[in-house]
Amino acid sequence: MRPLRLALAASEVAPFAKTGGLADVLLGLGRWLGKKAPQGPGHDVRVFLPFYQRIAKSGLKTTPLTGAQNIDVRFPQRTIRFSIRTAPLPQSEVPVYFIDCKELYDRDGIYTEDGDEALRFGLLSRAVLETCQRLQWAPDVVHCNDWHTALLPLYLRTVYAWDKLFAGTKTLLTIHNIGYQGFFKDSMLDTLGLGDQRAHVHHGDLRDGNLSFLKTGVLHATKLSTVSRTYAREIQTDEFGMGMQELLRSRSADLVGIVNGVDYGEWNPADDPRIPHHFTANDLSGKAKMKAAMLQRFQLPHDPRAPVFGVVSRLTAQKGFELFADSIPIFLQREDMRLCVLGTGEEKTEKYFQWLRDTWPNKVSIYRGFQEDLAHWIEAGSDAFLMPSRFEPCGLNQMYSLRYGTPPIVRRTGGLADTVDPWDPATRTGTGFLFDEFSSHALAGTMDWVLRNWRDQRGWQQLIKNGMQRDFSWDRQGPEYVALYRALTGA
Ligand code: ADP
Ligand code: GLC
Repeated sequence: MRPLRLALAASEVAPFAKTGGLADVLLGLGRWLGKKAPQGPGHDVRVFLPFYQRIAKSGLKTTPLTGAQNIDVRFPQRTIRFSIRTAPLPQSEVPVYFIDCKELYDRDGIYTEDGDEALRFGLLSRAVLETCQRLQWAPDVVHCNDWHTALLPLYLRTVYAWDKLFAGTKTLLTIHNIGYQGFFKDSMLDTLGLGDQRAHVHHGDLRDGNLSFLKTGVLHATKLSTVSRTYAREIQTDEFGMGMQELLRSRSADLVGIVNGVDYGEWNPADDPRIPHHFTANDLSGKAKMKAAMLQRFQLPHDPRAPVFGVVSRLTAQKGFELFADSIPIFLQREDMRLCVLGTGEEKTEKYFQWLRDTWPNKVSIYRGFQEDLAHWIEAGSDAFLMPSRFEPCGLNQMYSLRYGTPPIVRRTGGLADTVDPWDPATRTGTGFLFDEFSSHALAGTMDWVLRNWRDQRGWQQLIKNGMQRDFSWDRQGPEYVALYRALTGA
């Protein structure tokens, strides 16, 4: 079978621009797809990402892509010029095409609340197609991710429909998180050059004067996917659909769930360059050293018998930390335990963790902010990983924690349900701890159960090993995407 030509487009790609798991997935999937045979499938994959200020300032060496310089994209109210700069994904030959457009991307954050946010990501979609035209490179599939690139299928069907280059091009839209839909005023349609396409965007939204990027993508992408099987089911229900359930149900036959892969090149305790002590399932001595080193870094007293609970998270309502309120203090009061938190986000959640720290300064410590290396330290140095998500499309952290010998404590939802198996001390099977009801009570019950199991260290060692042996590599998950791309193109 011939290699596929694949364009991957997203607002985040690690290590260049990251606020969450989307970035990790683009790096891992992109790198895997492009890996040459016989180790990998060897597709012709190109990744598109805005050249944000933080990338421009990072000192990354990029080169201008010949044939893709000073491209003018005409929008009704203004013409926007961009050029492509390129650099490979680290440790790969897969090119990232950075869309260099100072006018739109030379700003502080990846995301902004500026008036032209819709245009910033509208351009991202159009820049992918414009670049393909300049290079005369016809992708078999353009793989769009989340709302930021969800207008691309509609652009392809309308503004670019005349171009035979795209005659065989199909689109896949992956929903990584339905909590972010890209809502704007419908007047944006004119700004985006889609003013005459009102018939092709969601009518209910238009009636309310709105435009949703994500819904537009769901209406027009050839196929849809999301990042776990359970979440694919959940988003078609009233509880999880966030207003999109009906639309998704109408496209149910085109919607699949593919659990994210893990890039064990980045996340492997045996040789992770971001941590000082290494370990494997057969020799966990390095993990004990990591625990001590991490507690020192968090300025907490070390006692090997006291379990350390780790958290690495965006602090948003999705992640379910409100459940801590009536559960975690009970255990902090009663148990000799530690809680190490790395996170940033909503002020009330940050404040809550600070309150925990102020109340139990010898047991709780928090780093507010985004710190890649500390995330690896916490995965490696904790005894258990807390992720009580209200909803979780896939979740990567629980899979990282499995590999780092840190059993996850999760709510049974989305990808958490698909990737963590309940520990059963009788059969010594399972990899973590799950609870169903979204309540402090359910979390407290599970914490109790976790602590009881912690006291049986022989069982706990087995639990660790079970998790470390689970394989969520892209070698396993990636072929599901390839099968989907092939089904799309008939290639
Ligand atoms: P989500 O994408 O919803 O945030 P995931 O579990 O899929 O959740 O992925 C989160 C990714 O972001 C992981 O790589 C995690 O280590 C990283 N991350 C989240 N918060 C932080 C932080 N404050 N500092 C460093 N890394 C973080
Ligand atoms: C989103 C989801 C997370 C998922 C990630 C990558 O940010 O919240 O569950 O793992 O995307 O797909």
